[in-house]
Amino acid sequence: MSQPPKHLELTQVDIDFPTPNGPFKALQDVNLTFNKGEFVSLIGHSGCGKSTVLNIVAGLYQATKGGCLLDGKEVNEPGPERAVVFQNHSLLPWLTAYENVELAVKQVFGRSKSRAEMREWIEHNLSLVHMDHAMDKRPDEISGGMKQRVGIARALAMEPTVMLMDEPFGALDALTRAHLQDSLMEIQKDLNNTVIMITHDVDEAVLLSDRIVMMTNGPAATVGDILHIDLPRPRDRLALADNPQYNHYRHQVLTFLYEKQRKTEASPEVKQTTAELKVAPDTTQPEPKPEQKVKAA
Ligand SMILES: Nc1ncnc2c1ncn2[C@@H]1O[C@H](COP(=O)(O)OP(=O)(O)OP(=O)(O)O)[C@@H](O)[C@H]1O
Ligand SMILES: [Mg+2]
Repeated sequence: MSQPPKHLELTQVDIDFPTPNGPFKALQDVNLTFNKGEFVSLIGHSGCGKSTVLNIVAGLYQATKGGCLLDGKEVNEPGPERAVVFQNHSLLPWLTAYENVELAVKQVFGRSKSRAEMREWIEHNLSLVHMDHAMDKRPDEISGGMKQRVGIARALAMEPTVMLMDEPFGALDALTRAHLQDSLMEIQKDLNNTVIMITHDVDEAVLLSDRIVMMTNGPAATVGDILHIDLPRPRDRLALADNPQYNHYRHQVLTFLYEKQRKTEASPEVKQTTAELKVAPDTTQPEPKPEQKVKAA
């Protein structure tokens, strides 16, 4: 008997990028399935191919081999049911924060919501990210973190089946970041949408995720390991700080990144990479020694 189609599926994905020195194989044999309503984080060293995976699901990149299916349909172009929050906020510079969100809302709800309903919905989503006070400002009049928040509001306002988030909170201060992480968990519980989020922050990955996909270093990067985060929801960051199971998970991610997949000295990206991975001090487990982080195997 044939299996019912998975919600979201990447099967045997390879991608070769053309370069002046011939094709560069960024991903090789990536196989991933996502359940409806699941929160999955992608983690791995800089340049391993996380954004590339996300761009394939977004329909912005086409796999060279293999492919992506959403609810049984092949993904080969972008669509409003897959909203993206990009690594570098991507707002239209000539539109205000309100108008940037409005553009997406009109695309999705232009036929089903009245003008007043759309206005209310846009304002509601901007207030979720604490941007209602600056909604009439253009991108060049607001900070990088504020631009990122508008990008998040724009994605949320589309009520997408799948939210694709590329380091969505990377540019934010710690308080705003914590507030948005909590909001995202609540919104996701209500909407039951599938979230794929790239992060360099080990604590963020464990706090938010049902599973953490840990990627090997490129070229020809692939899925190295998948960690199931079996912590009850709702999750409270303060309570989890002393939870042994939580600390066990974060230690497993650290071990993968700094022991199994540590970058070699030959790599010019190594120092930047280890600095980029945000890790709060672990009070229960020994931190990897500095030389472990950078030395070749
Ligand atoms: N359009 C492209 N053309 C050529 N090479 C590309 C292209 N996009 C990505 N690459 C290469 O593919 C590899 C993976 O890139 P990708 O942006 O997916 O990494 P990443 O894991 O998201 O890194 P970071 O954490 O720094 O954002 C890198 O070596 C990158 O240089
Ligand atoms: Mg990236």
